[in-house]
Amino acid sequence: MPATPTAHEPEQVPAGQPSAAELQPGQPVPTRAPQPQPDSSGTARIAIAYHSGYGHTARQAEAVAAGADAVPGATADLVSLDELTDDVWARLKAADAIIFGAPTYMGSPSAVFKAFAEASADVWADNLGWRDKIAAGFTNSKAMSGDKLNSLVDFAVLAAQHGMIWVGLDIYPGWAESTASIEDLNRLGSWLGAMAQSDADLSAEKAPPETDLRTAAALGSRVATVTLRHLRGSLAA
Ligand SMILES: Cc1cc2nc3c(=O)[nH]c(=O)nc-3n(C[C@H](O)[C@H](O)[C@H](O)COP(=O)(O)O)c2cc1C
Repeated sequence: MPATPTAHEPEQVPAGQPSAAELQPGQPVPTRAPQPQPDSSGTARIAIAYHSGYGHTARQAEAVAAGADAVPGATADLVSLDELTDDVWARLKAADAIIFGAPTYMGSPSAVFKAFAEASADVWADNLGWRDKIAAGFTNSKAMSGDKLNSLVDFAVLAAQHGMIWVGLDIYPGWAESTASIEDLNRLGSWLGAMAQSDADLSAEKAPPETDLRTAAALGSRVATVTLRHLRGSLAA
């Protein structure tokens, strides 16, 4: 694994730009990394960077990707984090948005995801290489709560450290009134990201249930829509 930089390393500023220490009051803070731009086709590239130990979260990841792909002008790229190859880093670099996903193990994202998060410190050290990309997250576990919120918080903090722009879920909580149904969208009532629940005795062919996969797809669509707006806005700016 490459050397991990520390927050105490000197700030890297491109030639010709003042460092933070040299800035005068009222002077605009310089942009230190290229802003996201649409590729020549104007497509929004949505990467889904995920880990799944036993296949359940992989189904959720596929649903997120399908939701992103369903938005005209967006294309999804499912990036497995099982092996952190050069290809993985290249695909994430090319993406306009990265949606993080992992099962919740012992109340946080799985260790494989955490290894990826730590390895991403190299991207962080290289001039905040993911600055201004759109970010979002999803997680799956066996309990209704299972402390899944902690995993989503972990993803959001990771995104913030990278200078990314976090997008949550814009869906009212389902299954939260006496007449409501377990089939409701966002039945687990999460806003920070998409949650899914998989019964522990069911294989990945049967869990998570359709309702959670639809919620995952809704997150993918929302991220794709927001990313397209972001890219078009950066063209106009
Ligand atoms: C090591 C380990 C720790 C787990 N910790 C939790 C947990 O904290 N909360 C929970 O609800 N489920 C927990 N589970 C259950 C998994 O989150 C659940 O089985 C999930 O569907 C696995 O997803 P995957 O097939 O993508 O690996 C844990 C499972 C394992 C193997």
